[in-house]
Parts: sequence; structure tokens; C-alpha cells
Amino acid sequence: MSARKTTRRSAGGGRRAVLWGGRFGGGPAESLRRIGDSLHFDRRLVDQDLRGSIAHARMLGACKIIAASDARKIVRELARMRRQIAKGELVVTGDDEDVHSWIERTLTARIGDAGAKLHTARSRNDQVATAFRLWLREETAGLDASVAALMDALVLQAQEVLGVIVPAYTHLQRGQPTLLSHQLLAYVEMLSRDRARFADQVARMNECPLGAGAATGVPYDIDRGATARELGFSRHTANSMDTVADRDFAAEWLAAAAILAVHVSRLAEDVCLWASSEWGLLALGDAVSTGSSIMPQKRNPDGAELARGKTGRVVGHLTALLTTMKGLPLTYDRDLQEDKEGVFDALDTVFACVDVMNDTIRHSRFRPQAAARLLTGGHLLATELADFLVGRGVPFRHAHEVVGEVVRAAEARGVDLSELSAADIAALDERFAGCESALDFAAAVNRRDHVGGTATRRVRTALRTWRRRLG
Ligand code: ARG
Repeated sequence: MSARKTTRRSAGGGRRAVLWGGRFGGGPAESLRRIGDSLHFDRRLVDQDLRGSIAHARMLGACKIIAASDARKIVRELARMRRQIAKGELVVTGDDEDVHSWIERTLTARIGDAGAKLHTARSRNDQVATAFRLWLREETAGLDASVAALMDALVLQAQEVLGVIVPAYTHLQRGQPTLLSHQLLAYVEMLSRDRARFADQVARMNECPLGAGAATGVPYDIDRGATARELGFSRHTANSMDTVADRDFAAEWLAAAAILAVHVSRLAEDVCLWASSEWGLLALGDAVSTGSSIMPQKRNPDGAELARGKTGRVVGHLTALLTTMKGLPLTYDRDLQEDKEGVFDALDTVFACVDVMNDTIRHSRFRPQAAARLLTGGHLLATELADFLVGRGVPFRHAHEVVGEVVRAAEARGVDLSELSAADIAALDERFAGCESALDFAAAVNRRDHVGGTATRRVRTALRTWRRRLG
């Protein structure tokens, strides 16, 4: 026999009022409570669960499923609990299994039997799905505002540095000249897709589960439309069995969050490179960098590094939820309680990452002199020279070859292509005569003059569009 103590208490006794004590002789083992109790995290849903309960009670009264006077009492007390919690006068704590139990226990202690009628025509299965959807919908609105703020920071910087030319990298090798603003706006595009993904997910999630009951519906003449409307859902869900088993909305949300986190992480990585001693392109502000405990000269991009580092756990939460769901038989299984902590942590994490990158972008300054230095040293104008030859009727593949030889010659002399004169290059191959225009970084940028290209006037138009959209 194990010497470990197993605590059993009376199911209805003490401060622990479980919602299902009747058929049990004793309370659950300590181990079961430890793995099962969720109040310490699902109390985050308390306001949404109170509102869901208020809508449910109102509907029960209006449909004469419970007495109108009882419904009024319940609604009044639940509303009072909301206010008291908001003011910190009532704290969600106790020995209860979950937030739903806590609410019912608190309500019933206050108004007696009327409170015990709240759970008529409802199960925690449709209840928790409702509260979670409401919570996610509301938190996503806040997250959307934070992402918009980061986009705004990027647009402001892009405006500030309009005209600054940097190398565009492929394979982390310098490739072609581009406007730094164009690169910053690339992140704005990504973040805009993230917002669209969340909006799409919220629209699909915005269906009210109330009325699905435990799995099959409830044997009362309920009004599902009324609760859906009161809670701001666009409609109610269609199939009760699907409703209590479904966590697609959480998985989709985590997928959107994971992609957002990956975008923020890529921006963070660019910031780390730009702020490195090697690039020297970005001067991090005091508010968004940290020092070293041993090296007095250091200015580290900790915020960006942490944003990059935290991305893994957001991706992990998506994997965890999908793994939890993959073998679950219909309908509700307790495994589904695992849906919340990952989403809570993912939300807190992406908020933190987005906000720190917003501050990092806002409180740092690009150094145009460093940009100019980065331009020479990667033969960035090689493609321009090839395209110059194309203008002279040379097939691109041949031109590529010829310019490759010019690059080799430049390297043999220990200079960058841009340091050769048109005459130097024409001396290597006379078809380059008059190639001065191909040796100009700004001209190279401005030749990419089509929608989506890096030409200054195109980037200016993109900036105008984003300012208007974000305005
Ligand atoms: N805490 C539970 C959850 O988050 C609430 C639903 C409990 N339902 C049940 N049949 N035990 O999923």
C-alpha cells in the first residue's frame, strides 16, 4: 500500500461545493483534484461566464422556464458580482473545481434557492464553450489594436527613412539595392495579413453554444436566438454534439497567433542584425536596450531577442492543442479543459512580443551613414549591369555570364563594382560603353517602378495607402 495520503472530503462540505456531489460518497482524491481543478486559471473567464449566465437566466425567465422573479434575482446578483469583481471587492478564490462552480456557489450563498435554478437547461459543456469564445473574441480585439500600433510604428519609421538605400539580402548575402522603407513596409504587409486572419477566425467563432447542453440539446423550450443576440454573437451554433466537442476556434486562433509570432520574430531577427556591431544600421534607444553586467560598452537588443525566443512556445501551444484534440471521441471529453492554458499563455506572449517590438521600432533610430557603408562590398549593382547589357540586345543569360567576369575582375582588384567607373568596365567589354546609369544605386532602385517594386514613387504611394488605412 502506498503511504501517500489520499484526502477525501464530503463532496458538498466546506468551501468546496462541487456541482455533481449527489451520487458520490466522498470527494475526489487529492491527485484527481490536483490534475482537475482549473479555478486557478479559468477564473480569467469570470466576467464572460457571468455575462453568459446573465443572458441564460434572462432567457429562462422570458421563456417561463423559471419564474420571472427568480430570473430577476439571479440577474441582479450576477450583475452585482461583476461590479464587485471589477472593483476588487470580490475575489475569485476558493476551493472550487472551476470558475463555473465558484460562480454558482457564490450566487447561491447570496440568494439561496433562486441561484440553484440558474443551471436549468444548461451544462458546463455549453457554458464553458460560450465563455471561452466570448473571452477570445474580446481579447483578440485588444490584440488587434496592439498589432495596428506596431504597424503604425513601422510606417512612421518607413516615412522617416524614405530615401535611405540598403542592400536587400537573399541567403543573407547582399543582393540588390532597395529602399529601407520598402523592407519595413514588408512587415506591415505581414501584420496586416495577421489582422485579417484573426478577423476571419473571430467571424467564424462568433456563434453561441448556449443551448447545446451536455451534448444533445435540452428538453426545454429555450430561445437560442435570444442568448446569442444578448451576448453579441452573430448566430447560434448548428449542431449540439459538434458544439460541445469543438475547439476549432481555439486551434484556429492559435494558428493565427503562431503565424503572428513568427512574423514578429522575423522582424526581431532583422532588428538584431541591424543593431549588431557588424551592420550598425539601427541605434537602439535606451528604453529598448539593455547593458551587460560585465562589459560596460554593451547595448543589447534583449526585447527583440526575447520576442524571437518566445515564439517557440506559441507554436508549441498550437501543436499541443491539436495533439489533445486528435483522438477525442465525440462529444465533450475532459481533455478539452486543456484548451485554455495554452491559449491564455499564447495571448499573453504575443501581446508581450508585439508590444516590445512596437517600442523597439519607435524608440530606435536608423543611421543613414551606416546604410551607405553597407551598399559597397556586395557588388549590389551586378544585376543592373546585366540588365544594361539586355538593353543593348544581349540575351540575359549571356549578360549574366559577362557581368560575372566583371565581378571577378573587380574582386581581383579588391574593389566593389560600384567603385569601378563606366570606363573601367567598358575597358573589360566594350558593350558596357555608356553604362554610368547602371552604376547608380538610386537609379537602380527607381528602375523597379511597378506595383510592388522598390522605386521611390511606388514606396511613397504604399506609405500613403498605409497611413490612410491605419489613420
Ligand atoms: N472546466 C471544464 C472545462 O474547461 C468545464 C466543463 C466541465 N464539464 C464536465 N463535464 N466536467 O472544460
